[in-house]
Amino acid sequence: MARKRKGDGQTALVTGASMGIGVDLAECFAKDGYDLILAARSEAALKEVAAKLADKYKVKATPIVADLGMIGGGAKLAGEIKSRGLGVDVLVNNAGYGMAGAFNGSDEAGQLGMIDLNVRALVELTHIYWPGMLAKKRGGVLNVASAAAFQPGPLMAIYYASKAFVLSFSEALWKEAEGTGVHVSCLCPGATTSNFRERAGTGKTRLSRAGAAMSSATVARLGCRAFQRNRRVIVTGARNRLLTTLVPFLPRRTVLSLVHNLQSPA
Ligand SMILES: NC(=O)c1ccc[n+]([C@@H]2O[C@H](COP(=O)([O-])OP(=O)(O)OC[C@H]3O[C@@H](n4cnc5c(N)ncnc54)[C@H](OP(=O)(O)O)[C@@H]3O)[C@@H](O)[C@H]2O)c1
Repeated sequence: MARKRKGDGQTALVTGASMGIGVDLAECFAKDGYDLILAARSEAALKEVAAKLADKYKVKATPIVADLGMIGGGAKLAGEIKSRGLGVDVLVNNAGYGMAGAFNGSDEAGQLGMIDLNVRALVELTHIYWPGMLAKKRGGVLNVASAAAFQPGPLMAIYYASKAFVLSFSEALWKEAEGTGVHVSCLCPGATTSNFRERAGTGKTRLSRAGAAMSSATVARLGCRAFQRNRRVIVTGARNRLLTTLVPFLPRRTVLSLVHNLQSPA
């Protein structure tokens, strides 16, 4: 008889599962036996990921095309999930993007869109699935923030602020869920190999030259493991952990100058 896996009988919804960290997060949950619902905008890529993971881990994987940057995109996705007779035990809010550059002269739609996706859709989906998790006393939410969440980010201001929101929101929910059996974890990666840098336009900053990026598979593995243990916050990489620990003890002006410098062109 096949060995029981911890996710057997449960479903994980992973947003931003067409590429990058989301694909590896989906793989970690599939490995643990969770059925998957994979959401993003790129239909062909989603279908490919779903087919591969379903076959490799013998789970059910359902790709659903969703633009979560649209107002109401989370509710629309949840409606689609319900109409297919599916439920969500674990919500992985991973979809997100960044935009490098000064706030002045930046593209307004891009900046607001970042808030809509990184913050609004994440809250919308969590609000939809949270009551069910508490009622069942299982499952939970794994939010993907960033090492950027720990300080303001001149020259990438909205992205840093959006991730600070995600970190704050996640920690508060972790406390509200204490003792219920529902897990909440906030994964805070540093630089990670994915399409993120290209979309964000951060490839030419000093920060991007400051060290090697971690593989998305390693980041995802750390995130999944921490979620299973209900760890509140996970910062990936020793250097990022050191920096995020030091930041609260440094003068704010110093932190702002440091980040401004790192986000400047090399
Ligand atoms: N890579 C890094 O260095 C790094 C560091 C810290 C935190 N993070 C965070 O990690 C998360 C994953 O990013 P990544 O590095 O894997 O970047 P990525 O390779 O660009 O992947 C982003 C994912 O989000 C999806 N997405 C983007 N816009 C969307 C929309 N409007 N609706 C639905 N899905 C959308 C993309 O799919 P479609 O384009 O198909 O929609 C893709 O699947 C993000 O929240 C990011 O902020 C990344």
